[in-house]
Amino acid sequence: MRISVIGCGYLGAVHAAAMASLGHEVVGIDVDQAKIDSLRAGRAPFYEPGLPELLLEAGASGGLTFGTDIAAVAGARVHFVCVGTPQMKGEFRADLSYVDASIAALVPHLQPGDVVVGKSTVPVGTAERLAVELEPTGATLIWNPEFLREGFAVEDTLHPDRFVYGLPTDDAGVVTPAGDAARTLLDEVYATPLADDTPQVLTDYATAQLVKVAANSFLATKISFINAMAELCEATGADVTQLADAIGYDVRIGRRFLNAGLGFGGGCLPKDIRAFMARAGELGVDQALTFLREVDSINGRRRERMVDLAREVCGGSLVGKRVAVLGATFKPNSDDIRDSPALAVALGLEKQGAHVVVTDPQGLENARQAWPELHYADDVLDAVRDADAVLLGTEWSQYRELEPDVLGGLVAGKHMLDGRNVLDPVQWRAAGWTYRALGRP
Ligand code: UDX
Repeated sequence: MRISVIGCGYLGAVHAAAMASLGHEVVGIDVDQAKIDSLRAGRAPFYEPGLPELLLEAGASGGLTFGTDIAAVAGARVHFVCVGTPQMKGEFRADLSYVDASIAALVPHLQPGDVVVGKSTVPVGTAERLAVELEPTGATLIWNPEFLREGFAVEDTLHPDRFVYGLPTDDAGVVTPAGDAARTLLDEVYATPLADDTPQVLTDYATAQLVKVAANSFLATKISFINAMAELCEATGADVTQLADAIGYDVRIGRRFLNAGLGFGGGCLPKDIRAFMARAGELGVDQALTFLREVDSINGRRRERMVDLAREVCGGSLVGKRVAVLGATFKPNSDDIRDSPALAVALGLEKQGAHVVVTDPQGLENARQAWPELHYADDVLDAVRDADAVLLGTEWSQYRELEPDVLGGLVAGKHMLDGRNVLDPVQWRAAGWTYRALGRP
């Protein structure tokens, strides 16, 4: 089937390549010429494992093309809207201008019977509004949120946990005939093997939009819960990693997303919980989400606590101290530095007078552009040279495997601050290091 994907960022580029790998004829559209040039040349415009291979494969078969001209969507029957919904500057609300612009651009090119599939994360109520705008075209809107994680985006797109379809319903809550037809077409796009055995939740627009923000809020809450426990552990000498293991054995709780440390960052969780709070306020139910304020502030406090710990191990002042920060990205296997906890700590240290050297396997180019006031080293050994303290901010596998003796020969002060609780305290202490972490004695 010929399909179009509007927006070729982390979500859209992966979605376009994944759909092409299923045998569809896909055209990807983005307003950013540089991004399109890169994708056309078969190069992923960001680091995402598995994406380069998928682009090459799809490009070679001729089933995947990219462009900036929306007219190229002609002939496509299904159109995926995958543009970003960033946080508004100085506000909690989501900026919907890219979603609105995509729909406005699509409208003149839609045919009756076409399906527009909304995948962007939007405040509940957006789909209902967009459906009205699409009405004159005869196209049908399905809200089909995407749950992919950066670093696993290809895997998550091709093997999702579930499909959620928000369908148009009549006054009695029954899916309309146009909704049924649209659903059949979208099923065809996601045809086997993708849809095999994958649970499908067929619902209304409001529920589908809420599913996405509810899921991200739950994940953020889980992380902040364990980070709140880390604060208790710090006050009592307990160990949050053991606590997480012990409560995680209860299958009702589960061990995943209970890793205490510097907390969550990235382009989704922080802005999604804020936009959700803003939307709840507009709907007059802000009290329902006041706990998310706490989730957000626990998350922010961990970053401050890490700066305090660094000052402590540096003898009470960071002025003139050299600190190596290992990791710039918000999580491993990504080059994304949006709202990165590691970089927030690096900037906090710099603000208190430290000389901070940041290193990262993939995120340095983005970090250099965003924060030119920090210092950068391409190699971890260069970053730690003469450092008074080393801080692990992002748990890249190569940092987990660092040898205390190798680093010990390079640094000025053997102080390891483990922001992600991934190093073995026994091993580092045995090699003569001070080991400090969040929520561990
Ligand atoms: C998230 C959701 O997981 C995904 O389903 C949604 O579609 C988009 O938002 P992503 O932002 O790629 O995905 O990252 P995720 O793996 O969820 O991690 C988010 C942040 O939480 C990272 O900064 C990570 O380091 C942190 N985190 C995660 C923790 O601090 N502790 C944990 O236990 C898990």
